[in-house]
Amino acid sequence: QSARKFFVGGNWKCNGSKQSVQELCEAFNAGKNIDFNRVEVVVAPPSVYAMLTRSILRPDFGVALQNCWVGKPGAFTGEVAVEMIRDIGLSHVILGHSERRHLPEIRESDDVIGRKTKYAIDKGVHVILCIGELLEEREAGRTREVNERQLSAVRAHLSADDWAKVVIAYEPVWAIGTGKVATAAQAQEAHSEIRSWIRRQVSEACASQMRILYGGSVTPENCLELAAQPDVDGFLVGGASLKPTFLDIVRAYQ
Ligand code: G3P
Repeated sequence: QSARKFFVGGNWKCNGSKQSVQELCEAFNAGKNIDFNRVEVVVAPPSVYAMLTRSILRPDFGVALQNCWVGKPGAFTGEVAVEMIRDIGLSHVILGHSERRHLPEIRESDDVIGRKTKYAIDKGVHVILCIGELLEEREAGRTREVNERQLSAVRAHLSADDWAKVVIAYEPVWAIGTGKVATAAQAQEAHSEIRSWIRRQVSEACASQMRILYGGSVTPENCLELAAQPDVDGFLVGGASLKPTFLDIVRAYQ
């Protein structure tokens, strides 16, 4: 359908152990019938397992962290710097995930997410930028406004060229981990609004190249209908990325 390369991310969140990471990576390595010329696959383990994951997974898979510090390394207890992500051979970082935006223990602001995005790109790390509305925002008809507010806060820090290093993940918060997946029509509507925002606020070229992923209760069962939508260019998968059948979602590009 489009020239955009399909992209599937697996966000393992705060799950796993040395043993489960080993087993899952081995299962992924054994996966057949995946044309990596047609799909980009990136998994994001908890940061303590990132080196282990990178050392076991075959190189066709990218590895990401789920967060990073906002600037240079230094006296920032408990944080992980972008420079370290590069140092251990990782390609991507997930930023702006709704759990980091909304959990009361974290509450990351739109502006901090924008600054992190800029710093990561400047250091050569690609960003999977998550945006999306809460249930009450959707019910109040504010989905588009919320997505655009979150995108604008990032745009304030990025040059037009920087956007080439970004993949956007639209993750409606009400669909995350709830088993309540957005309908294909709901996903397509939000994705096309996001693409049109990029067209207006960044450039036509950037809009046509931008991969916009859907995230929120994606499974091997529901991924094909979503993948058939013209503005759905892949997925960011949570729970279903912790199982070998994640590869069935990866194969949705076919
Ligand atoms: O980042 C992926 C995510 O938030 C979706 O999680 O478990 O609903 O697939 P899940």
